[in-house]
Amino acid sequence: MDAQELRDAYVDFFKERGHTYIRSASLIPENDPTVLFTTAGVHPLVPYLLGEKHPGGKRLVNFQKCIRTGDIEEVGDATHLTFFEMLGNWSLGDYFKKESIEFSYDLLKDVLNLKNEQLAVTAFEGEEGIPKDTETAEHWKSHGMKDNQIFFYGRKDNWWGPAGQTGPCGPDTEIFFDNGQKKCGPDCGPACRCGKYVEIWNNVFMQYNKEKDGSFVPLEQKNVDTGMGLERVLCIVNGLETVYDTSLFTGIIGKLEELSGKKYKDDMRSFRIIADHLRASTFLLGDGVVPSKMGQGYILRRLIRRASRYMSNIGIEGVNMQKVSEVIVSEYSKAYPELENNKDTIYAQITSEEEKFHKTLRKGLRRFDEMIAENGDNKELNGEAVFRLYDTFGFPIELTQELAGEKGYTVSVDDFNNRFKEHQEKSRAGSDQVFKGGLADASEQTTKLHTATHILNAALKKFVDPNIHQKGSNITAERLRFDFNLDRKVEPEELKAIEDYINDIIKADIPVVCEEIPYEEAMERHAEGVFQCKYGEVVKVYSIDGVSIELCGGPHVRSTGEIGSFKITKEESSAAGVRRIKATVG
Ligand code: ALA
Repeated sequence: MDAQELRDAYVDFFKERGHTYIRSASLIPENDPTVLFTTAGVHPLVPYLLGEKHPGGKRLVNFQKCIRTGDIEEVGDATHLTFFEMLGNWSLGDYFKKESIEFSYDLLKDVLNLKNEQLAVTAFEGEEGIPKDTETAEHWKSHGMKDNQIFFYGRKDNWWGPAGQTGPCGPDTEIFFDNGQKKCGPDCGPACRCGKYVEIWNNVFMQYNKEKDGSFVPLEQKNVDTGMGLERVLCIVNGLETVYDTSLFTGIIGKLEELSGKKYKDDMRSFRIIADHLRASTFLLGDGVVPSKMGQGYILRRLIRRASRYMSNIGIEGVNMQKVSEVIVSEYSKAYPELENNKDTIYAQITSEEEKFHKTLRKGLRRFDEMIAENGDNKELNGEAVFRLYDTFGFPIELTQELAGEKGYTVSVDDFNNRFKEHQEKSRAGSDQVFKGGLADASEQTTKLHTATHILNAALKKFVDPNIHQKGSNITAERLRFDFNLDRKVEPEELKAIEDYINDIIKADIPVVCEEIPYEEAMERHAEGVFQCKYGEVVKVYSIDGVSIELCGGPHVRSTGEIGSFKITKEESSAAGVRRIKATVG
């Protein structure tokens, strides 16, 4: 079974059981400034878990592109990935534990052809105020799972969410593939890391809302949220050893072998790092992220530079990333058409960043020579200097060691490692902070900025060019940032006209109307963003009469007057052919 067959089989199975297929959302969370990337299929669905009506109904299915960056440095082993795909199905206040377990069991058995004895499952053991989830265990037993295949664990293993500080959460049941090897000891079970059990699916029963005071209040609408890692399952059903052996990577690795003249087996770690990082980078560029010093752009830059270093490790010299990206675009565009649609930008950006890094590399080499001169008679390079080469110029310690060795110098590896650890802890803490900030925390300010973004989009078409479309959008509590296609700068008088117009719309206090309408109607009404949909789908649009109509999940203010006032703070270039406007409200 290849990747596309697995995606199709999963979606078809759930469609046959009344689920509506929804497209993967962007890797950049739409209305959530507190998280850098979409990390699970459920992430874009949070408003609907809380009761908002989804146009697709109460049963949904999809495959979602996701990025998790907590362990970038671990990539290169057999399992860690930054980019991955999650297959998921949801019940929004519809079916619950019984049907969810039945669907999962039937899919594993009938579609993936796994046998009962190859599976193990877990359930929540309970804690004060929340009972043990024996109901889940009983459902598993009704499908023939034996007591010795069912394990109970606590909050660490069998509870999911909330993704932020507060929000929907609940006990889960995780499904593991048991590879048949001997237990490593009497306590060996799915929570053990010996390798016998591989997690393949997580079904979360979202039945509580965690409140600000830390209490768990039963949700009125009980939901099911499931997530299955596509890469891992593909590996298991095909009897392969690692995710890199699956069809998701063979084309990419093949291309790297061709470019380097080396074999994957000669240096698996380097090949894996390059393959993972360039896959993530291609998808990020496809979603409008550009390499930069901050936020998502910084992660993208790190990924591209790390990939570049490892490309030179396996002997790929010169500017070559686009060639690898082309393989990714061609192989993944059926599932993710945005890659094909945005391929020109993807290639231009990846090449420009690769060229920039090659220049940094030269600067780093100059810095290295200076370090040697500064060191004088001291034949050991200290950790701080070596770490600076790593951090600022992207020099791996192995490269510095090699260069130093040629000149009769050594490197204080322990000192470097200590600094490296310190830095890693700081950056982990940083990304945890962003993540912990909360998911569904759509504050008043971000809601205002969101509606202002729609009006800005319309105003740009009216005053600058009717062919302008959104290329990216990012909202924090302080400002909106809107990227759009345009080959020139927006003139000051145009900016003034846009600002005045938007303030007039705000003063007119026009209602913001939300409707669910068929895709065809949205197209007839020239709704912005219609290209994202398929015929026959019902879509949600927000319209401001006479000003804008746009496909969107919300939330928005009820009428434009709530925005208060609008001010453009910056107009600048974002990338080739893309301009960026920043603005504030209130
Ligand atoms: N949201 C759940 C997870 O990420 C399914 O595991």
